[in-house]
Amino acid sequence: MVKDKVRVTDLAEMKAAARPIAMLTAYDFPFARIFDNAGVDVLLVGDSLGMTVQGADSTLPVTVEEILYHTRMVARARSRALLIADMPFLSYQVSIEQAVANAGRMIKEGGAEAVKLEGGIVVADTVRRLVGFDIPVMGHIGLTPQSIHRMGGHRVQGRRTGKAPGCRERLMEDAAALEAAGAFAIVLEGIPAELAREITDRCAVPTIGIGAGVGCDGQVLVMHDMLGLSESFRPRFAKPYARLWEDASAATAAYLREVRERAFPGPEHSYGIKGA
Ligand code: KIV
Repeated sequence: MVKDKVRVTDLAEMKAAARPIAMLTAYDFPFARIFDNAGVDVLLVGDSLGMTVQGADSTLPVTVEEILYHTRMVARARSRALLIADMPFLSYQVSIEQAVANAGRMIKEGGAEAVKLEGGIVVADTVRRLVGFDIPVMGHIGLTPQSIHRMGGHRVQGRRTGKAPGCRERLMEDAAALEAAGAFAIVLEGIPAELAREITDRCAVPTIGIGAGVGCDGQVLVMHDMLGLSESFRPRFAKPYARLWEDASAATAAYLREVRERAFPGPEHSYGIKGA
């Protein structure tokens, strides 16, 4: 574990030292505080908040303003972890100028130290420009949720061979293009473990896996998956380390019962006329 503040440059050192990088998403103050206190290396304000927090059925509607709003909350909570803000759909694809302006807002207004964007070869020029202006970039390839319509759903990628988007050889080229453009790390999402290991071995920059097996340089989970805070969506790769949905449901049922039975509030939760 890196002892002091985690910087972008520490991730390369962790890869070199074969020390796994632990990353989580966070969207608000209390959970960011819990994760930071626990020693997480990287916090990502992911556009997954569209699904986990806002209840949408994809990440596509998420806006720059919404990512900024949540990034500011997480920035207030974090003291050690590296903070990365996700670039939402169409905030970096329309023009490089827009990408620079929007990414700059994540740093200036959000308090992020880096941004993440989806895609490989097609975003390489944008990545190069951002990095040229000292905005560190994390890449993201494989099952890229912003490509949901092209992929026909949230489907595992890299199972077919070829150079078309999502195919095995193309994913290797995507990773190489991101590295050449100056990305400091690459998320590998939803690809076979063998392919993720091969990309990791070929890449000089760290890879962070999600649904990509143990051969990556680090792992990331969406906090709602890690904490069991989703009502029903429990994908295979998302190991729950707690059952917060069930715990919160049981706590709510207990509260409702006690209010209805006049068991709450008790004297210990009430104020007397004289007391402090
Ligand atoms: O938006 C997100 O939470 C992400 C992670 C799954 C990597 O992109």
